[in-house]
Amino acid sequence: MRIAVLASGRGSNFQSLIDASERGDLPNVDLVLLVVNNKEAKAIDRAEKHSIDWIFINHTDKERVAFDIEVMAKLDEYNVEGIILAGFMRILSKEFISNYKNRILNIHPSLLPLFPGAHAHRDALEANATKSGCTVHFVDEGVDTGSIILQKEVVVKPDDTEETLSSRILVQEHIAFPEALHLFSSNRLKITSNGVEILPP
Ligand code: GAR
Repeated sequence: MRIAVLASGRGSNFQSLIDASERGDLPNVDLVLLVVNNKEAKAIDRAEKHSIDWIFINHTDKERVAFDIEVMAKLDEYNVEGIILAGFMRILSKEFISNYKNRILNIHPSLLPLFPGAHAHRDALEANATKSGCTVHFVDEGVDTGSIILQKEVVVKPDDTEETLSSRILVQEHIAFPEALHLFSSNRLKITSNGVEILPP
């Protein structure tokens, strides 16, 4: 399955997919393209180091849909079949999401539906949550509302800060995302009215 990754920054989740692929854990995945909306994204260095094509598409000089159309054209050019949002800090338009219905996966640093949005760690700490974690889900038109594929839990410690909590959750993200992508690329995810069913191999 030809996969494109969309990222905005550090790209450690992108790296976890590259590593899993190089280990042979993603036998059905071909990471064909990285799209960034930030010229400074560290994800670019990771793509270059592993000979993955990348493109920067600027979003600051155009409307949301115009940006998405430009991304879609690039994805078409690469015959992309699945899209991974790996720290892509931009809401996608309805047009984009419906064009790739049930083909976009996102990772979020909380146990959704708890703590959606841009401040998941802070919100978990403010709510005195005793556990948090990460969620890989299909992207729909809402913010962090799509069908959940899998989650990994992390215990919140009484002295946790946003930094300590996020770094422990990140370790789980790097396990969860390759796992979810493997299931997706092996056609083992079935979306039902009760959520996502994981089919046997
Ligand atoms: C990750 O923690 C990811 O869960 C989060 O951004 C970080 C990106 O890190 N995504 C969101 O909050 C999306 N709502 P990375 O660039 O090192 O992969």
